[in-house]
Amino acid sequence: IPENTDLVAEIARLKKEKNAVIMAHYYQTGDIQDIADVIGDSLALAQWATKVEADIIVMCGVHFMGETVKILSSEKKVLVPDLNAGCSLAESCPADKFEEFVKAHPDHTVISYVNTTAAVKTLTDVVVTSSNARKIVDSFPKDAKLIFGPDRNLGNYINSVTGRSMLLWDGACHVHEQFSLEKILLLKKEHPNALILAHPECQSVVLKVADEIGSTLALLNFTKTSDAKEFIVATESGIIHEMRKYSPDKTFIPAPPIDSTCGCNDCNFMKLNTMEKIYNCLKYEFPEITIEESVRVKAEKPIRKMLELS
Ligand code: 13P
Repeated sequence: IPENTDLVAEIARLKKEKNAVIMAHYYQTGDIQDIADVIGDSLALAQWATKVEADIIVMCGVHFMGETVKILSSEKKVLVPDLNAGCSLAESCPADKFEEFVKAHPDHTVISYVNTTAAVKTLTDVVVTSSNARKIVDSFPKDAKLIFGPDRNLGNYINSVTGRSMLLWDGACHVHEQFSLEKILLLKKEHPNALILAHPECQSVVLKVADEIGSTLALLNFTKTSDAKEFIVATESGIIHEMRKYSPDKTFIPAPPIDSTCGCNDCNFMKLNTMEKIYNCLKYEFPEITIEESVRVKAEKPIRKMLELS
C-alpha cells in the first residue's frame, strides 16, 4: 500500500465499486468500527447476514463469524481481513472430540455456542449466542437432557439462571478467563459508584460481583440507559469504543486481567484485523471463506433454528 494512502477513503471507494459491505464485531479496533456498515454482537451479525444486500461481505471479527455469515449467505463472496483470526473457544472444541462426547450421550439435545467451527455446528441441534442462550435453553422442557458446548462459564451461568444441569463441554475464552476478581474488587474500592459489567464468558466468581451480565450489545445498551456515571467493563476492551461514543460523559474502566504483564484485555485474534488488511482484502477479494457445501447445509440448520427462536 503506497505511503500516505487515505485508507478510509480508499476502502469507501472499493466498497462502492465492488458493491461490498463491511460488518464488524464490537471487539474490533475503533477505526474499523468507525468504517463498518454494520456493528453488532454475534446474534445481530448473524441476523444481518441474512438481510444484507451486497455482492461481497467483509466480516471483521474472527473466523467463526466469517463462517456464520457464509453459511447464512452462501451466494455472496465472504471475505475476512485475516484468516488467522481464530477463537480460543472454537479451538477448545475440536469436532472429532465433540462428536465422541455427543455420541456418548445419544439421548441428549446438543446446544452449541456460536463460537464454534462449522464442523461442530453440523453436530448441533440449535446454536445460541450469549444474548439468546437463556431464552433458547428455556424453550426446552424442564426435564430435557441437554448438552451445552463449548463454553463452561456461559454453560454454568445458564445452568444457574435456568435451574438446569446441562452437560457442559470444558472450554473457555482466553480473554474472559483472564479477568481477576481481586483486581476488579480493588478497582471497585477506588470507584465505589462504578457498576461492574460482565460478559457471561467470565468465570462465575466475576459474574457474582457483576451488576449487569450480558452480550456485548446488551452491555452497551445498559450503559446508554443507566444513571451510573462509571463502569468497570469485564469483556474485551473493543466494546468501550462504542460505549464512549454513545456516552461521552461517562467513564469506562477496562477490568484488569490476572497477568498484569500482558497489560490489557484485548483478544489477540480480533486485533489481527487492521485497516490495511481490510483495504487489501477488498482490493484483491482475498482471503475468502469457503465451506464445503454438504457441511454448510448441515451447519445452517441449527443456526436457522436459533434465528427462529430468537
Ligand atoms: P457477543 O455475542 O456478546 O458479541 O459475544 C462475542 C464473543 O465472541 C465473546 O467472546
